[in-house]
Amino acid sequence: MSESSGTPLRRVRVHHLRQAKERGERITMLTAYDAPTARILDEAGTDVLLVGDSVGDNMLGHTTTVPVTVEDMVHHTRAVAGAVRRALVVADLPFGSYEASPQQAHATSVRLMKEAGAHAVKFEGGRRVAEHVHLLTSTGIPVMGHVGFTPQSENVLGGKRVQGRGDEAAQRLTEDAVALQEAGAFAVVLEMVPAPVAARVTEVLAIPTIGIGAGPECDGQVLVWTDMAGLSDWSPRFAKRYAEIGATLGAAARAYNEEVRGRAFPTEAHSFAE
Ligand code: KIV
Repeated sequence: MSESSGTPLRRVRVHHLRQAKERGERITMLTAYDAPTARILDEAGTDVLLVGDSVGDNMLGHTTTVPVTVEDMVHHTRAVAGAVRRALVVADLPFGSYEASPQQAHATSVRLMKEAGAHAVKFEGGRRVAEHVHLLTSTGIPVMGHVGFTPQSENVLGGKRVQGRGDEAAQRLTEDAVALQEAGAFAVVLEMVPAPVAARVTEVLAIPTIGIGAGPECDGQVLVWTDMAGLSDWSPRFAKRYAEIGATLGAAARAYNEEVRGRAFPTEAHSFAE
C-alpha cells in the first residue's frame, strides 16, 4: 500500500486493505512484539503489525507457539499498540483461547481489544471457525483468518508441512478461505501453500490474501520480523533476510565488553563532573 505522502498520517484501517487489493497495491505486514521494534517498523511504513503468537518461539524461549497464553498476548499487544501511529495492529488468539466456541473467541478478542488496544484479531482455521468469525465480525471485532499451515495444529499436521498439495487438498483450502470471507473476515493469511494454489485463492477471494511461504501472487506478504532482519540463527526457506541484526548486536556487545574491560569506556565525556 502506498503511504499518503505530504498529507497528515492516516491510520491504516481494514477497509484500506480491501481498497489496496482492488487497486492492485501490495500490503506489507510484519510481526512485532515490543514497543521499540513496533515504532521502527511502523515508521518504516509497514501497513500491518501482527502481534503473532510466534512471540512464543521467537521471544519467550518456547519451541512452539502452543504454550503462549492470553496474558502473554495482552502484555505484548499493549506494548505494540501503544507505540504505533499508522499501522493496523492485529493480535493473534493463542492456542486454547478460542477453539471451544464462538463465545470463547469473543471473550478473548474483547480482552485483546479493550485491555491491549488491538485493532483486529487473527486466529487459525477455516470452516471449523467460520461461526466464530461471524460472531466476532457481527459484534464489531475485525477478524483476519489464517489457513494453510497453521502452527498451533503442528501436532495434528505432522510437523511444519506445506498444505494444499494435490487437487483435493487445494479445493479444501480454497473452500476454507471462502468460508472465512463469507463469515466476514477482512483478510486471510495463507501459510506454506504452493504458489499456484495461493494464486488461485487470491483470484477467487474479494478480500486480500497475505502470504508467508505462499509465492508471489498474494495481495500482501508477512514475515516474522526476526527472520526478516536476521536476528535468529536460522530462518525458514521462504523468508528473506534483509539485515543481519544478530551479527550487528553481537559485534556491538563485543566492542562494549572490550572497552569496559580495557577502561576505554566510560570516559569523562560520559561522566558528570559534579
Ligand atoms: O504468529 C505469527 O507470526 C503468524 C505469522 C506466521 C502469520 O501467525
